Order: sequence, then structure tokens, then C-alpha cells
Amino acid sequence: MITGKTVVAGVVGHPVSHSMSPRLHNAWLAAAGIDGVYVPFAPGAHGFQRLVEGFRGGAIRGVNVTLPFKEQALKLADRRTDLAERAAAANLLLFEPDGRILADNTDGVGLMRAFALQAPKWSADRGPVTVVGAGGAARGAVAALLAAGAPKVFVVNRTLEKAEAIAQALGPQVKPLPLLHAVGALRDSTAVINATSAGVGAGTGLDLPLEATPDGCVVMDMFYKPVVTPFLEQAQGLGRPIVDGLQMLIGQAEPSFEAFFGAWPPAEVDVRALALEAIGQ
Ligand code: ATR
Repeated sequence: MITGKTVVAGVVGHPVSHSMSPRLHNAWLAAAGIDGVYVPFAPGAHGFQRLVEGFRGGAIRGVNVTLPFKEQALKLADRRTDLAERAAAANLLLFEPDGRILADNTDGVGLMRAFALQAPKWSADRGPVTVVGAGGAARGAVAALLAAGAPKVFVVNRTLEKAEAIAQALGPQVKPLPLLHAVGALRDSTAVINATSAGVGAGTGLDLPLEATPDGCVVMDMFYKPVVTPFLEQAQGLGRPIVDGLQMLIGQAEPSFEAFFGAWPPAEVDVRALALEAIGQ
């Protein structure tokens, strides 16, 4: 039931209709008995700034931000967390009552939570990690890995300049490499993360010599449709532990929910099952 006190939050994207976030947040709200609602907003490609300005002053509590607005979200904010700044993107905006906008990034937290749950023996400080890709998602992952204590992060990308730009922004622990030299990075890595928009593995046009990774190297794919991607299948075939992008999605939603509604999501809701149903698996 919507009342006069209902706290409103949502997700902004273009498009937004595929977003799973409304299902997750509203299931948590119902189970927790919180007077709140989480709705999708789909401004046109050029309408993001007007939408965000309209929310200033606490018209709604906050929004998650998805493609293609994450970089713009960071710029529109008045205050930014360190992680959002280093990721150069925000997936969470909070509208303070005094009119200010706070930008945060919970994608990195989501990534680390997914590893903690699905690869509990792994930890970032154990050795180098390889991130494949050098777009916004990759930069966020690199920032999160460094914050979690990774001593070295290889950024392997088709276009070397973009990997070099991440190294320039995030420091000397970041080692840029062209895709052709991926093997040198994979050999030394405790984890490999696909953060390209392409998908990796059989039939995707982007192949990696995963067999070069050491035993026990954790393989993670930010793609989650299907949940076990060709890249993760390849990893399983080699006996490598895997972490999936669906768990990262859930992992970023949890701290977002707390920021909007003031409580951690209730553990009894099987949001993974809900999400799997939503993507038809
Ligand atoms: P996002 O913000 O979601 O990370 P992006 O900024 O468009 O998306 O970045 C996409 C990433 O996927 C880039 O690293 C891109 O490589 P380039 O920098 O060389 O363009 C990578 N990518 C996309 N399609 C690819 C393909 N077919 N082969 C290799 N890399 C690909």
C-alpha cells in the first residue's frame, strides 16, 4: 500500500525496462514491511540531467543509475565518495533534504561481495588480478580491486590506449596490456574478470587463453545472460572456480537498498531465484 509516508527510490537508465532492480528492491521492501517503493525511470538519452535536477531537495530518496548515465551521474553530484571518484562513475545518487546530491558507486562492493560468496577462499591481496576490458565497468572493477588490497591489476584491452588511461588515473599498480599479450597476465593471476561489453569465449569473437591461468584462479564474468556464459563454461571445463555477474548485480543492490531505506535487505528473500526467473532461467 502506498501511503503519505512512502519512501520513493528507483533506477534510471536508457533503456530501463530490462532492469532487474525493481523486482529485487520491491521484494525486499515487501518482506521487510518497509513503507517504500522502487520504480523505473526512463528519460530520453538527453533527459537525464533534467530528471536529476528535478529530484533535488529530496523529492525522492535516491536512484540507482545504469547505462548510459553513470559517468554523467558522477558529474552532476555535489559530493562524491572516493570509490565513485576513482571509478569515474556513479551507480547511486542520494538526494539530501538540503538540495545536495551525493554520488556513490556500489558496483565495486557488489563485485567483491560476489567473490566473497562464490569464491570464499579467494582474497584480493593474494596476488595479481586480470581485468579484461577498459570501459566504465572495467575501471570500476580496477578501483574496487585496488581498494580491496590487490597488489597488481593487469588491464587487458583490445585498444591499449584505454587501458593506459586507467593506469594513468589509478596508479602504478595498474599494468596495461594489449589483448594479444594476455597470456603474460593470465599466467600470474589469482582471478580473471571479464568487463568487456562483448562477452568472451566460444562464438563471441573474443577468445582468451584461459588455460594459461594457474590452478585455482577464479574466473568472473560481469555478463549474466545467460548466468553461466561461454567464458564461465570454458573456465568450468578447466576446473576453475567461477563467480557470476548475477551475484554482482545482487551485491550492488544490497548496499543501495540500505542507502535508500535505512535497513539491510532481509536475508530470507531468495532474490537470486527471483532474478533467475526474470531472465528466464
Ligand atoms: P562499459 O562502460 O559498459 O564498460 P564501454 O565503455 O563501451 O562499456 O567499454 C566496452 C569494453 O569492451 C571496451 O574495453 C572494449 O574494447 P575497446 O576499448 O578496444 O573498444 C571492449 N570490447 C567491446 N567489444 C569487444 C570485442 N569484440 N573485442 C574485444 N573487446 C571488446
